[in-house]
Amino acid sequence: MSTAALSVFIRSVGVHAPERKLTNDDLSKIVDTNDEWIKTRSGISERRIAGPNENPSDMGAKAAAHALQNAGLNPADIDLLIVATMTPDVPFPSTACLLQAKLGLRRDIPAFDVSAACSGFVFALQVGTDMLRSGRYRRALVVGAEKLSNVIDWQDRTTCVLFGDGAGAAVIEATETPGVGILGNLLGSDGVNAELIHCVAGGSAKPATAQTMADREHCLRMNGKEVFKLAVRVMSESCQRVLAQCGVSSDEVAWFIPHQANYRILEAVASQLNVGLDRFPSNLDRYGNTSAASIPLALEEAWRNGKIKHGDLVLLVAFGSGLTWGATLLRWHEPRR
Ligand code: UT7
Repeated sequence: MSTAALSVFIRSVGVHAPERKLTNDDLSKIVDTNDEWIKTRSGISERRIAGPNENPSDMGAKAAAHALQNAGLNPADIDLLIVATMTPDVPFPSTACLLQAKLGLRRDIPAFDVSAACSGFVFALQVGTDMLRSGRYRRALVVGAEKLSNVIDWQDRTTCVLFGDGAGAAVIEATETPGVGILGNLLGSDGVNAELIHCVAGGSAKPATAQTMADREHCLRMNGKEVFKLAVRVMSESCQRVLAQCGVSSDEVAWFIPHQANYRILEAVASQLNVGLDRFPSNLDRYGNTSAASIPLALEEAWRNGKIKHGDLVLLVAFGSGLTWGATLLRWHEPRR
């Protein structure tokens, strides 16, 4: 394939959500909270919780198998695997390598993780796109898979009500058809704000000890108010910048698929962009914030429900711990149409 003008498009998407549902009423039995507070402040009604043997590599493998099935492809057709996760099965090897083996992908392809927290899927999609555009690989699986229930402090009502588990995957493919698929993107980070959402212990800087366990330092900690303000700003700016980069106006975008963190954040971003909230599909009510899995879960749902159609402009936008942010504008392409 000539690399002069390769386009990269999302050929299919797939998902996996654990069966167990945890409702707001269930949570009110664990911490001092209630359904009304959670719904009003976040838009979340319930979230999924993975079982003890259901890890990100397992959920990711199921989502990837679903995406392959939707594309009519086999594991052998995949040349590259990138997994975005902030809750890897183990510190090493990568969740991608574990998933590669579970899914039976070819035993010689590159498989690696991307660590950009809730922006992970958008980061991984861009890395995959650029690798495909190089002409060295034809098809990649980009997966977001998270088991946040194992890094949540179930005694902290300000965070434990927000997150859930799940996985989503996309098959991306290079084509010589011009002007389709990913049209533009931007990624950004600001490590000065690293402590706004972070985990203190469990890495090489502060390995696990009985004391770190007792101090709950292996759990996610977050300054919700600050994150909220920054999220609205960086998501709105990222959309505006990627639209300007591509010479597209927000009116031309059929669907905005934002990271699903909080319904009020989506309302504020839609308002900043002067776009109706009806163009921001959301599944927050049923899944909560699933970090790197949230965009592919929302994308798959909008596609499966027939919202996203061939030729539609779709804008993916995310922010997360790091801080990190990113946006991708794409023209949805279904080659057999
Ligand atoms: O992927 C990135 C992940 N992070 C985010 O997206 C987080 C962004 N931030 C947010 O979504 C919001 O800041 C929250 C949903 C976390 C909190 O909403 P808020 O409107 O900023 O509430 P708040 O923190 O100002 O808390 C208001 C009150 C406080 O009580 P007082 O001080 O007013 O008496 C809290 O103690 O609500 C209390 N509160 C709760 N009450 C019942 C905090 N958590 C809860 C709870 N249930 N779960």
